[in-house]
Amino acid sequence: MKNKSINKIAIVGTGFVGSTTAYTLMLSGLISELVLIDINSRKAEGEAMDMNHGMPFVRPVKIYSGTYSDCRDADIVVITGGANQKPGETRIDLVNKNTAIFKDVVGNIVKYNTDCILLVVTNPVDILTYVTYKLSGFPKNRVIGSGTVLDSARFKYMIGEHMGVDPRNVHAYIIGEHGDTEVPTWSLASIAGVPMDAYCKDCNSCDSESFKETTYNNVKNAAYEIIDRKGATYYAVALAVRRIVEAIVRNENSILTVSSLLEGEYGLSDICLSIPSQVNSEGIARIIKVPLSEDETVLLNKSATALKQVVEGLKL
Ligand code: 2OP
Repeated sequence: MKNKSINKIAIVGTGFVGSTTAYTLMLSGLISELVLIDINSRKAEGEAMDMNHGMPFVRPVKIYSGTYSDCRDADIVVITGGANQKPGETRIDLVNKNTAIFKDVVGNIVKYNTDCILLVVTNPVDILTYVTYKLSGFPKNRVIGSGTVLDSARFKYMIGEHMGVDPRNVHAYIIGEHGDTEVPTWSLASIAGVPMDAYCKDCNSCDSESFKETTYNNVKNAAYEIIDRKGATYYAVALAVRRIVEAIVRNENSILTVSSLLEGEYGLSDICLSIPSQVNSEGIARIIKVPLSEDETVLLNKSATALKQVVEGLKL
């Protein structure tokens, strides 16, 4: 019988994103056991050693490097392994390479654990969430992609910066693909319960249409800009994964823009993308039906079509 109170997480892939996620989870105090798995076992071992030497400064958590068999009793397996974007590359450019890697990774995880939640972070995350759903045979609620949780955070941060408001008091969602077709849902954005349009009208200190366009472009292109400067992104995505893990481990019923399988919601089926969803210890408890504007609906459909075209090109 699985001991639910253990809160064991396995991370597959200890590159920049996997190791930063591990470190972020170590600091979080949310979990009691963390196993790091990487094709380069010495890298995973080194990361575990490095983190363990900080143990006197944090709440106790058992961290070690292991193999796929250590996924056996994990509550959540976070998959970050695979190739990452190089300057100039899109997330979709990684699809063939990372789908091939996932065939191996997912097969190896499910050999040892069919009860866990699979949390996909590797890009292109929506496609790989779909691939993981198909390969694992898991119910759809237990296959989650980090999706646009990061993009929604970037969106809130940038709106908050512009408005001079704490980003935690900005409600705003990016939905659709975590990538070039992502959709800003301005019609749902609000501060202190005041819809964004009314807030802008009251503030009246800039051209709100150009503010919206610039903000969306900055959110959408954030990863390109960061990769251009430092080669990779990992701090914010690690915090986004930590937040998703928190919602699961603490059964929070939090609304997060995670990626998951749609089966008729918004008229879309057989594709994974991000929609505000209720996340708890079961994984995805509910995909919320949010009222989108006509323009947002058109953009969401375009995003889904773009993702479907990529999936159709895959041999699963
Ligand atoms: C990001 O958006 C690269 O998907 C990663 O930072």
